Amino acid sequence: MNFQVVETVISKHSLIIPFITKDLEKKLIVLIEQFALPPALLSDFKAGADEVIALYTHTHATIEKIILLGLGESFSAQSLQKSMRLLVNKQKEKLGQNVVIDLGKIYPQDAATNEDEISKCVESCVSGALLATYNIGKFKTKDNPPSSFPENYTFVLPKNLHETAQDAIRKGEILASTQQHIFDLVNLPVNHLNSLQLAEFAENAGKEYNFSVRVLHLEEIKNLGMGGLIAINQGSDTPATFIIMEYKPVTDKPLKKIGLVGKGVTFDTGGISIKDSDGMWQMKCDMAGAATVIGTVEAVARLQLPVHLIGIVPSTDNMINGKAICPGDIVHTYSGLTIEIEDTDAEGRVILADGLAYLHKNFEPDVMIDLATLTGACVVSLGYHAAGLFTHNDELAAQLSKAGEQTNERVWRLPLWDDYDKYIKSDMGDVKNFGGRPAGAITAAKFLEKFVNKHTAWAHLDIAGVAFGDSAFSNARSATGYGLRLLVAYIENGIKSSV
Ligand code: BES
Ligand code: ZN
Ligand code: ZN
Repeated sequence: MNFQVVETVISKHSLIIPFITKDLEKKLIVLIEQFALPPALLSDFKAGADEVIALYTHTHATIEKIILLGLGESFSAQSLQKSMRLLVNKQKEKLGQNVVIDLGKIYPQDAATNEDEISKCVESCVSGALLATYNIGKFKTKDNPPSSFPENYTFVLPKNLHETAQDAIRKGEILASTQQHIFDLVNLPVNHLNSLQLAEFAENAGKEYNFSVRVLHLEEIKNLGMGGLIAINQGSDTPATFIIMEYKPVTDKPLKKIGLVGKGVTFDTGGISIKDSDGMWQMKCDMAGAATVIGTVEAVARLQLPVHLIGIVPSTDNMINGKAICPGDIVHTYSGLTIEIEDTDAEGRVILADGLAYLHKNFEPDVMIDLATLTGACVVSLGYHAAGLFTHNDELAAQLSKAGEQTNERVWRLPLWDDYDKYIKSDMGDVKNFGGRPAGAITAAKFLEKFVNKHTAWAHLDIAGVAFGDSAFSNARSATGYGLRLLVAYIENGIKSSV
């Protein structure tokens, strides 16, 4: 797939024109005159979200089809990306090999030359067109014909915007391809992606995109005293891994050090506190936090952003055998604190305890953010529309909320009051891993808080409701890629505000 920017197009193509409802009539009249289109278009096309009309222009020298794409009333980069993705995925046969995108009808005239706006639009179109080609049916042996997506996408823009547009193309390509890697990781079942394979994926990404990856294996994990990860892994036939990724560009400028931790449970049966079998297959997504962390390090390295980024992933499945951890067991963690296991299905927080403590002790980052499909309770609170955000730091909360609005990967803050500590107070150890049903997402966050050593810029994102969801591109639930764009926007905003 090819993306380019030109001033004029000479080859035959389909022309995609995205519209918002504002000034629609005026813009349509111009179009009708320009291409001698039927006036009925005025009453037929309302530019509603994802509305599509294809028109055939047999008299025109180069334009074979005009495809009007509705974006609805107000337009955002995210809605354009989504509409493009839907259009290219659902109507690929109609588009032909060569597609030209005219961005001129989205804006009021005065904004059409605004570099930031054009850049966002180009990036969204590129990402949308690439994401549209994602194939979830990788294991199908039949009914999987080679897809006929358009090969060439061209943006027609004045010369002075070409450099900006080229940068936007590159960014759109990097984010979409990284997001597809995340889709793959999250969608793969555990018999194709276990903790060793997840670590191997990170190692390969590191080699390909130039960031360092160190994988600790079971022996080392034991030697380091990561009792949380060992405990969850002891009922498994697959040894745990602990993945440490680091991206640090060479520069004289001081870099902000951001540490990410992702929950890498490759399958969560619940352990001895076993889950109901209804929908249990979805627990292959329990490493979505890990996938987002690996993807974010990949994307930031490919974009070569000026930031020092560390990604930590403790990984194991949560299985059951004769050695599996039992409710009541006491576990000694890397931090030195002991955990009383009350429910073996609250395993994520137990491995994150080691991930967070390791990050804090060995890297002392300026900011710590963990992402985890941690609690069903978070899904009960916020549904499928926002991740739960937990932090004591108002500035970090505001920054993550802003990035969430920008990318439509929203976060919603929930409290971390000490009143909730009593629910996870253990008689025998320092803390217990289950706080009862009330406020389950909050008590999970309070548990994690014990392992960040009072770090003043720590945030926990519970992504249980947003990582794996209904989609227009699959019949059952599938990976959303949530978090990559949020974190990249958060990091980029931080870079912009520091210069
Ligand atoms: N992996 C689950 C949480 C989850 C739920 C992820 C829905 C994605 C979608 C987690 O390990 C878990 O089982 N949590 C328990 C915690 C409880 C035992 C305290 C839950 O939410 O029921
Ligand atoms: Zn669980
Ligand atoms: Zn889990």
